[in-house]
Amino acid sequence: MTFERMWTDLSEVGRIAATGGYQRAAYSSADVELRTWFVEQARARDLRVEIDGIGNVLAWWDPPADALGDASRGKGILTGSHLDSVPDGGAYDGPLGVVSALAAVDLLRERGTRPRVPLGVAVFAEEEGSRFGRACLGSRLAVGSMGWSVARGLRDADGIALPDALDAAGLDSVDLDGDGPAGDLAQRISCFVELHVEQGRDLVDRGAAIGVASEIWPHGRFRFDFAGEANHAGTTRMADRRDPMLTFAMTALAANKQARLADARATFGRLRVEPNGTNAVPSLVTAWLDARCASDDALAELVAVVERQAAERAERDGTSLTVTAESVTGALRFDADLATRIAADHEGGDWPVIPTQAGHDAGILAAAGIPTAMLFVRNPTGVSHAPSEHAEITDCLVGVSALADTLERLAQ
Ligand code: GLV
Ligand code: MN
Ligand code: MN
Repeated sequence: MTFERMWTDLSEVGRIAATGGYQRAAYSSADVELRTWFVEQARARDLRVEIDGIGNVLAWWDPPADALGDASRGKGILTGSHLDSVPDGGAYDGPLGVVSALAAVDLLRERGTRPRVPLGVAVFAEEEGSRFGRACLGSRLAVGSMGWSVARGLRDADGIALPDALDAAGLDSVDLDGDGPAGDLAQRISCFVELHVEQGRDLVDRGAAIGVASEIWPHGRFRFDFAGEANHAGTTRMADRRDPMLTFAMTALAANKQARLADARATFGRLRVEPNGTNAVPSLVTAWLDARCASDDALAELVAVVERQAAERAERDGTSLTVTAESVTGALRFDADLATRIAADHEGGDWPVIPTQAGHDAGILAAAGIPTAMLFVRNPTGVSHAPSEHAEITDCLVGVSALADTLERLAQ
């Protein structure tokens, strides 16, 4: 089966031997290798390849020339996902959707399907936002919900500017002084469907291999800069310190407590400390809060409460606090009729329609007005963004045929 061959192709790219996880940051050598692999797979299937300046790749299976009529000039149907990972991420988040999309093309061809409109497979760049801090950067630029004028100013943790990272990755087609990618994807496609590994245990609990997404929770990334005074760890009396680490520590506890009370999610998963010396009180602690709630109002309230408690603590510690919203994505309900249509009437019953707290390119395309759906494949560990993320091969193959069936339904 083509799926297994492709999955084996990818298994070593960016793999960290010590953990079994993956380091596939956007525009890194692993990411470049994955993009090159994808282009080769697309060309081997005679798909027409487009790469935009930000590194999004679209590979099109065009209708046969003899079918060129009004319908064939219609908008395309798009599937796909992303290939980048979080630091030490799992194998499935992103690549499962891309490999399944290519395998679904193969399956549709085996079934003798002839597309009446272009059928595309997409790889969106920097979905995780792990390098430049903006989740779904590639898809935001593809639909124009973020402009190139903002994106070009982004820098990674090492201070490398996005245009330089693109250049280093060989994506020099970008017009560094111009408008960047066209941002016109919504005008070019009639729908998008993203297959993704489930990132929790909902499908395991339901005993279902496949699910369909109902909604994505609002979520955001907020940078908390706690500033204090660097000083000697031994000679500075405890009462004389202005230690921003204390303010941060209390803020992390407050975020955890507030999220539990609100049935929400709050995580400080990334920290930068200056000067980062064992025997020095820090001068600056920068911590990133990832917060997610069931509604936009609840998200705003959660972040406001954490910020207020952090500010109160800063006053007691003699430190100061600045909070910057770096990436905020509002509530997203997928097209309910489309989800129901996709979920209904399968052998073994309807597929469950379930919400997710994870962000996806599908959410960005849906917010741009593109009718969009997501398929989830069961993850027996329920773990994601970590090496033990998993999907059984039997479920992956069910996913491929579920995606092929869905694309056929959408084409009707
Ligand atoms: C992406 O996977 C996210 O939800 O952060
Ligand atoms: Mn993903
Ligand atoms: Mn992810």
